[in-house]
Amino acid sequence: MRIVGRETECTRLADMLDEARAGHGCSVVLRGEPGIGKTALLDHLAENADGCTVVRATGVEFESEPALASLSELIGPLFEVLRELPARYADVLMALVPQKIDDSAAPAVTGGGRHAIYAATLTLLTAAAARRPLLCLIDEAHWIDDVSASALLFTARRLLADPALIVFATRDVPEFDAPGIGTLRLEGLNGQASLQLLAHGCLAAPGATLTDASITFFTLDDNKDSDTLLSIQVLDRNNRVAASATGFFGQFGDGTTRPVTLKVRSGFTWDALQAGHLRLNIQPHGDDTWKFGYELDLNFSDGDFAPTIQSRLSLSEDNKTRLDPLQF
Ligand SMILES: Nc1ncnc2c1ncn2[C@@H]1O[C@H](COP(=O)(O)OP(=O)(O)OP(=O)(O)O)[C@@H](O)[C@H]1O
Ligand SMILES: [Mg+2]
Repeated sequence: MRIVGRETECTRLADMLDEARAGHGCSVVLRGEPGIGKTALLDHLAENADGCTVVRATGVEFESEPALASLSELIGPLFEVLRELPARYADVLMALVPQKIDDSAAPAVTGGGRHAIYAATLTLLTAAAARRPLLCLIDEAHWIDDVSASALLFTARRLLADPALIVFATRDVPEFDAPGIGTLRLEGLNGQASLQLLAHGCLAAPGATLTDASITFFTLDDNKDSDTLLSIQVLDRNNRVAASATGFFGQFGDGTTRPVTLKVRSGFTWDALQAGHLRLNIQPHGDDTWKFGYELDLNFSDGDFAPTIQSRLSLSEDNKTRLDPLQF
């Protein structure tokens, strides 16, 4: 990710990361309007966090995001650390590890359960930071589910003597309130930086090639049956398949998150994928209506990253295929 301008913000975040590396944990909320460059700044920070463990979670715009989805996204890469926690903490979070979520997961969290999750999250992130400095990036924080948000804010306020930096990025909306945590407000880029950005378009090198592709499905309140075949294809502007996966992938239960890695074919450039599509097709065995959303993530050889996010979709035996434009 080549970032334009933002010298002040980059320096401030780099300083915070240095402080964190030295054992003075801190956290900050990046606030700014849509498209101002919050995610760009998080990407830049992640790419310049040498020697750190970087974990990320992104809130998704759903009327009813699966409970604990964001926490689960964050915990997945820390599984090795989680396994070594005392059982009273490990057990609370183990059910949230993405690979381990089965159809009965998405535990109901009420009353004391919340506090157990807060304490377990703090313990996990402290333990991860003790191994290697930890950079924890929470994007679209205004959309993360309530329990994940509370657990992360609880943790952020207490990770003061640990090598950890937690950065939340949120639109300037009241949904994400973070009392006690400092704010870094993003204003528009200055004239020169805007011109530079305009001159480079979205800044991806048009010749950069697709290197990795993955899609994460968020099933809402209507599951995908285990015997419904799912075919996923990323198509370029000429409808050639650039990345794909086909399989049953098991049942996608209500309220669960399922990542699927796509097989990438070589030689597909950013340029060719502009104006491309994501094609999803299901072949149900009998009746099946699946209600879901997804985030498709495409990574390119120059480090650029393009997400396509859709919510409130439905496929069924009467409506087996959808074709969505790639969003970049
Ligand atoms: N300083 C910058 N340098 C390079 N690219 C930038 C910069 N700021 C924004 N962009 C580009 O502009 C587009 C929008 O930025 P970005 O997605 O980071 O905004 P955002 O604040 O996260 O928006 P949202 O609230 O919708 O998530 C992206 O393609 C991003 O790469
Ligand atoms: Mg963003």
